[in-house]
Amino acid sequence: MTFFEGRILAIESSCDETSAAVVDGRTIRSNIIATQIELHAKWGGVVPEAAARAHLENILPVIEEALQVAGVSLADLAAVAVTNRPGLVGALSVGVSAAKTLAFLQRIPLIGIHHLEGHLSSVLSLPGEVPLPMISLIASGGHTELVLVRAWGDYEILAETRDDAAGEAFDKGARLLGLGMPGGAAIQRAAVDGNPKRYRLPVALSADSYTFSFSGLKTAMLRLTETEGSGLSVADAAASLQEAVVRSLAERSVRVAMDTNAASFALVGGVAANLALRTRLADSLRREAIPFFTPAPELCTDNAAMIGLAASWRLARGDRSNWDLEVSPGSELPVA
Ligand code: KG4
Ligand code: ZN
Repeated sequence: MTFFEGRILAIESSCDETSAAVVDGRTIRSNIIATQIELHAKWGGVVPEAAARAHLENILPVIEEALQVAGVSLADLAAVAVTNRPGLVGALSVGVSAAKTLAFLQRIPLIGIHHLEGHLSSVLSLPGEVPLPMISLIASGGHTELVLVRAWGDYEILAETRDDAAGEAFDKGARLLGLGMPGGAAIQRAAVDGNPKRYRLPVALSADSYTFSFSGLKTAMLRLTETEGSGLSVADAAASLQEAVVRSLAERSVRVAMDTNAASFALVGGVAANLALRTRLADSLRREAIPFFTPAPELCTDNAAMIGLAASWRLARGDRSNWDLEVSPGSELPVA
């Protein structure tokens, strides 16, 4: 695999993190993340208008810090990469405007990157080659997908969720249990002392279809809090919820990896930061002799370094964007 020679400034602002990174070849020189979690916590979800304004406030300080930590100036940059799809239009526009301006003034290449291709490329932060074809589970706040990566840039989505994403199951469960945001990390913490077998929560797994479903889990959690009332053990409920999500993701993942004769399996996206999920998949895939890769937890949740890694192999292939690069709220993974 070939990577771009030269330093890439990467920018990510698709949702509620403002992030900038400097990536050199496949080496991450800096990765700065300003999160807006506290801003949105009081509304219980991301407010698009507030997100865009916070990005506007944070974007230059975050870029400046990324350059400083990497020990480079604007003149040392060889390209600028930015998430331009999918995401909140106002949020994306802030990152794309900044990226365009910097690339234009420095007269260096600009490249727009698909957010999910960024998550997929986060495994390239690990040393060595990742054998292809690979099955990658992208599990985040908005996505739960099993993607066949035949080659970098050549993807096929084999399984999707029919309703909620895995991250949403964590976030909604955390809200019902009175735990804070971000929900996934809060559930993981609360589950440490919990008994995952205490409460029976349904895991929807139809035998014949490659489909995830997490909305039943949300309803079951609501019912559980209503029937148990003040007698509910938050730790046991958190552990039971985590177990249900992990089991659903892991069973389907291993089956798809085996059915497709995958040469490797990768776990990426915000939910990939979950320790129970990482351990379960590592164990199950080892039993099937399928090599397992997952980036460090801070590269699983939204960050600009993964955008820089995707840009690095794309730029090395000669891909470039024009000055009229657009943003798009919904967009399929690129093919080739
Ligand atoms: O990839 P990401 O940062 O943003 C999206 O593109 O959606 O994923 C965010 C999701 C949230 O739903 C959050 O609750 C979940 O990832 N998450 C976790 C953990 N850390 C973040 N879920 C389970 N366990 C964690 N440790
Ligand atoms: Zn993401």
